[in-house]
Amino acid sequence: PRHFALVPAAGSGSRMGSALPKQYLPLLGRPLLFHTLSVLCQAPDIDKVFVVLSVGDAEWARHDWSELGPKLVPMFCGGPSRADSVLAGLRAIANEAEQSDWVLVHDAARPCLAPWHIDKLIRELAGEEVGGLLAVPVADTLKRADSQRHVAATVPRDSLWQAQTPQMFRYVMLRRALESAREVTDEASALEAAGLHPRLVESDATNLKVTWPLDLHLAEWILQNREE
Ligand code: C5P
Repeated sequence: PRHFALVPAAGSGSRMGSALPKQYLPLLGRPLLFHTLSVLCQAPDIDKVFVVLSVGDAEWARHDWSELGPKLVPMFCGGPSRADSVLAGLRAIANEAEQSDWVLVHDAARPCLAPWHIDKLIRELAGEEVGGLLAVPVADTLKRADSQRHVAATVPRDSLWQAQTPQMFRYVMLRRALESAREVTDEASALEAAGLHPRLVESDATNLKVTWPLDLHLAEWILQNREE
């Protein structure tokens, strides 16, 4: 089977408090999205990189992406939620993807994905039927709050993981799952809703999602201090 990357990049990034959607915020002199797409385009195991942009995206054309090579395919078909954007992307590549091809869905907002993350994910999931996702064991002690913001319970963290991306699933299973479960914040939950059990592949904290302004500084530091 082949491996396709699908990058939802049609969000507005409201939590960053900036007018520019976060995928286009400058990071080391490039749009954040450039770093994200660059590592995927350079991965030898990935055949094509589809990026889902919003229909009215006015920013994409302002930058030069040619350096990323012929694997990169922009598609202007994003939807109102992340799951809608991913599903629109899956529908758009229906002619290209075989049932058993793998799709690696990766947040535009995770620019510090490293080659080893991609290699490990693909290697560990190669023999799996369903697929899985990068994740890190939870380090903090977790509290469940009641409506008054008093602690109602401490949640044992031993078996809790934080989900990251890429999340890698077979084209047909992922599409079927998302067609029926749209209120999800990641692809794995759509497969879980269908009764399937995605596998967790241990990642690390460097594959962070840029959500708050501080994350941009962390991302810059990580990219600058990465050994080639
Ligand atoms: O907002 P959040 O950080 O959860 O977004 C995760 C990813 O989903 C981002 O890469 C964002 O661009 C993308 N997204 C999208 N379409 C939406 C909302 C978010 O492609 N409608």
